[in-house]
Amino acid sequence: MIITSLQLNNYRCYDALQFKPHKNLNILIGDNGQGKTSILEAIHVLGLSKSHKFSKDEDLIQVGASHANIQAEIDFQGKHTLMNMVISKTGKKAKYNKIEMSKLSDYIGILNLVMFSPEDIDLIKGSPRERRRFLDIDLGQLSKPYMLNLQHYRRLLKERNDVLKGLATKQKYDEVTLDIITDQLIHYAEKIIRTREGFLKQLQEKVQKIVPKLTGDAENINIEYVPSIKTNLKEMYEKKKRLDILLQSTQQGPHRDEVNFLYQNQPMKSFASQGQMRTLVIALKLAVFELIKETKKRLPIILLDDVFSELDKHRQKKILEVFNNTAQVFITTTHIDHINIDTSSSYQTIEIETGKIKGVNHHG
Ligand SMILES: Nc1ncnc2c1ncn2[C@@H]1O[C@H](COP(=O)(O)OP(=O)(O)OP(=O)(O)O)[C@@H](O)[C@H]1O
Ligand SMILES: [Mg+2]
Repeated sequence: MIITSLQLNNYRCYDALQFKPHKNLNILIGDNGQGKTSILEAIHVLGLSKSHKFSKDEDLIQVGASHANIQAEIDFQGKHTLMNMVISKTGKKAKYNKIEMSKLSDYIGILNLVMFSPEDIDLIKGSPRERRRFLDIDLGQLSKPYMLNLQHYRRLLKERNDVLKGLATKQKYDEVTLDIITDQLIHYAEKIIRTREGFLKQLQEKVQKIVPKLTGDAENINIEYVPSIKTNLKEMYEKKKRLDILLQSTQQGPHRDEVNFLYQNQPMKSFASQGQMRTLVIALKLAVFELIKETKKRLPIILLDDVFSELDKHRQKKILEVFNNTAQVFITTTHIDHINIDTSSSYQTIEIETGKIKGVNHHG
């Protein structure tokens, strides 16, 4: 899939931006704070309905505007389509070929992408929430059943917590209602746990092959899924029922799952060097790229935010080789010489200054 035209209106620092991306490599060049990341973020929001950062949807709307608009023409192996996302203060509206999608789950996963960003390091260093977010975003674009199960789970979790609150405070609801909701919740929790387990296993296999290619060394890396409930779910919910009522919230389930990254059988967070962590997160994203390629039988769009300035030439080359001049790539940089471009290939540079395009140049 290739974005053939991109248009932003009232998105972050952009009043109005329009350009036609190159089918392979696009290099966005500009000083700090000029709007490079915002373009990659907009593509992320367009495809996956969320920013790659922990931003509120409202932050995406240009200050003073009522709504932001992202629109793109996409070429899906010769089939031309139009994707559009409008973000307003009251919510989001996604359109596919000008038809409004009533369910986001029908929309997410049409446009696949993999983003590499400086924030990725939080996958290792940050809280479990970051790792669940990674699971949910990337599994969500790979598997529609997963996304639907997650939506059901989240709705039931909210309902269950309301019932717990009602039971604890106002003597509203009864335990029969709680048990019914709990059974429904367990139904989806089991599916989510199984999918996450399978995904992380696949991810680990891929990462174990990718890392040695990046570093040139055999590295001992493991990805361990730590579900919040390791035993029988029904028994666990029964056992924790009193505590849940007391605390007025559900203490266990997929919303409390964790993922451990191990390096030489030690937790990466406390054991690995900065460079090793960076290599792992890049390998994780490359693994997602391969999984999308295999499952969806198409190439996702690659968004590389600022990653090249921190990597040595060898690693840069290895990463670009993976995309092999086939996937469409967007890279941001402050200086073109930070990027090790294969001069025989063709690419486009887009110079950005204060939310405007200063120049577009084709090379090769
Ligand atoms: N909602 C908004 N409305 C208007 N401007 C915004 C909004 N959100 C962010 N900005 C501004 O958009 C600008 C572009 O930010 P962006 O992160 O895209 O820059 P960048 O080119 O990637 O910079 P860096 O090289 O530092 O990463 C910033 O100056 C920021 O203050
Ligand atoms: Mg940036």
